[in-house]
Amino acid sequence: MKRLFFLFAFPFCFSCGNSELELKEPYNEATLGELLFFDPILSADSSVSCASCHKPEFAFSDNTPISKGVGGKKGKRNTPSAMNQSSRNFQFWDGRNETLEEQALGPIENPAEMNLPVSVLINRLYRHKQYLYFFDKIFNEKPNRRNIAASLAAYERTLETDDTPFDDYMQENDTAGFGKSEQRGQDIFNDKGKCFDCHFGPDFTGDQFRNIGLFNGKDLNDSGRFIVTRKRSDLGKFKTPGLRNISVTGPYMHNGMHKTLREVIDYYDEPDKFISNSVNRDSLLIKPLNLTEVEKKDLENFLLSLTDRRFSKKQDNKREK
Ligand code: HEC
Ligand code: HEC
Repeated sequence: MKRLFFLFAFPFCFSCGNSELELKEPYNEATLGELLFFDPILSADSSVSCASCHKPEFAFSDNTPISKGVGGKKGKRNTPSAMNQSSRNFQFWDGRNETLEEQALGPIENPAEMNLPVSVLINRLYRHKQYLYFFDKIFNEKPNRRNIAASLAAYERTLETDDTPFDDYMQENDTAGFGKSEQRGQDIFNDKGKCFDCHFGPDFTGDQFRNIGLFNGKDLNDSGRFIVTRKRSDLGKFKTPGLRNISVTGPYMHNGMHKTLREVIDYYDEPDKFISNSVNRDSLLIKPLNLTEVEKKDLENFLLSLTDRRFSKKQDNKREK
């Protein structure tokens, strides 16, 4: 069973700077990390927090293909969900970091994200009476690179989700939210669709780097894992993303090219219809799947059943039988 709890869950005001508010006193590393995650004090002009791009209402991802950082600057990739990361052994689409601790300081210094040297952040926290007291209380030391990263990572590890119709079905054979269509969809996911070959395990990722055909070296030129390893065989490979809460994390893929789940399914059904000159596409995706209209709908309903209930209100209207 995946652990599930939210700390002060969805704070009342996402956009306002914590620094202007009286901060709620944290009681452990994770609750201190939560304050930092939502605080724009982490960005150059105090306008952007981690949650500006990893928005709680979209399962800590963004609903735009490419998020904007400080000064409206755009990065190159789609913002992935920061949820269900505690079992991941790679971070980022190309896996350039392994742990959440290693990852945490990257966005703060990234010019297209928060654009703030961590040394400057540390000075700011030194001058911030409440933070200074909180770090002392929790770590018994002043803010530093290690304890800032540790707090953010500890918070992210609490963002696990498993309150879904799929989990109820798997654990208790409860079919209330997981009817015939979802069950057929699961079979297609495992079998005819070949999805399970890459998206397996409790969070629907094998944590491997695979190439589904979104690289052609021309207009699609993010070479993915190759940037890290420089191996030709890694050209166009990306970390297989987990699929929990996938109904609220669109647009999809490392470049945000697919707007809807239906479009993703149409892509897998016949990738050549979208991109005919991809380099190095995985052999699992050579032949069209030839899914029927009903099969596509069933597969989509299965994917919708992976949505944690705290997000599912939005998608109830979308669900069709
Ligand atoms: C301007 C938008 C933006 C901000 C601000 C931002 N991120 Fe991200 N985050 C992204 C993007 C885009 C990626 C993917 C980048 C890549 O793969 O190269 C990402 C990746 C991640 C990942 C890896 C998830 C995965 O599936 O591999 C984690 C964890 C994460 N960010 C946490 C944070 C934390 C913590 C902060 C604040 C310190 C933060 N982010 C601030 C946009 C942002
Ligand atoms: C060969 C391995 C492989 C197979 C087979 C596969 N996937 Fe994927 N999937 C990936 C990878 C890798 C990505 C990220 C690709 C990218 O961004 O370039 C991905 C991305 C996705 C995304 C977007 C996730 C996000 O957060 O943006 C969805 C949804 C998805 N796959 C569903 C499916 C379904 C449904 C099937 C079966 C029809 C399937 N996948 C088959 C490896 C695979």
